[in-house]
Amino acid sequence: MNFTITQVNKLTDKHWDLLLLADPNKDLVQKYLQAGITFEVRKKEKLLAIMVLQAISQSKLEIKNIAVDPKFENQGVATKLLTYAFQFARQRNYQQLQIGTGSTSFKQLYLYQKVRFRITEIKKDFFIKNYQQHIYENGLLLRDMLVLTANL
Ligand code: ACO
Ligand code: ACO
Repeated sequence: MNFTITQVNKLTDKHWDLLLLADPNKDLVQKYLQAGITFEVRKKEKLLAIMVLQAISQSKLEIKNIAVDPKFENQGVATKLLTYAFQFARQRNYQQLQIGTGSTSFKQLYLYQKVRFRITEIKKDFFIKNYQQHIYENGLLLRDMLVLTANL
C-alpha cells in the first residue's frame, strides 16, 4: 500500500476519532498532544492512521498513541508507523523507544514484540485508576498496563 507519513499541526475530528480509539481518556490525550509530536498516515487524501511521540527523558522516546482506521487494519500500516518511530528515535539519538498497552491487548502485544519491543514493566491497575469507565477487551476487564521497551 502506498502512503505518506507526515507531521500534523492542526487536528481535525477525524484525527480525534483515531486518537480516542487507542486511548479513550481525552484528558490524558490532550496532555501528551501538547508535549509530543503527532504524525498522520494518508493514502492520497484519505487519513488512515495517527501516531503521537513524546520524549519522556533525554534518552527515551515514547509512542503515546498509535491508531489505524478499522477499515485499513491488518494491512501493515501500524508496522510501517512503528518502523518510522524507530528511525525517528535513532536519528535524534534517543537510546530507547517505549510503548505501553493493555494486558488484554493481544494483537498489540503480538505486533509490538514482532518489531523488537520487550516487556519491561507492569503498571498495576493503571486502567482502573486512570479511566472513568471500565474497558473490556477480548472479553476481559482491562486492569494493568504493560510497558514495552526497545533498545535503539
Ligand atoms: N492476535 C494476534 N495477532 C493479530 C491479531 C490477534 N487477535 N489480529 C491481527 N493480528 C496480527 C495481524 O495478522 C498482523 O500481523 P502480521 O503483519 O504478522 O501479519 C498484525 O497483527 C497487525 O499488524 P499491522 O497490520 O501492521 O497493524 P494495524 O495496521 O492493523 O494496526 C493497531 C494495529 C494500531 C493496534 C490497530 O489495530 C488499531 O488502531 N487498534 C485500535 C487502537 C489501538 O488499540 N491502538 C494501540 C493502543 S496502545 C497505544 O496507543 C500506545
Ligand atoms: N488468542 C486468544 N485467545 C485464544 C487463542 C488466541 N490465539 N486461541 C484460542 N483462544 C481462546 C479460545 O477461544 C478459548 O476461549 P473461550 O473459552 O473464551 O472461547 C480459550 O482461548 C481456550 O480455552 P480452553 O479451550 O479451555 O483451553 P484449551 O483446552 O485449548 O487449553 C492450553 C489451553 C492448555 C494453553 C492448550 O492450548 C495447550 O495445551 N497448549 C500447548 C501447551 C501449553 O502452552 N500449555 C501452557 C503452558 S504454561 C504452563 O504450562 C504453566
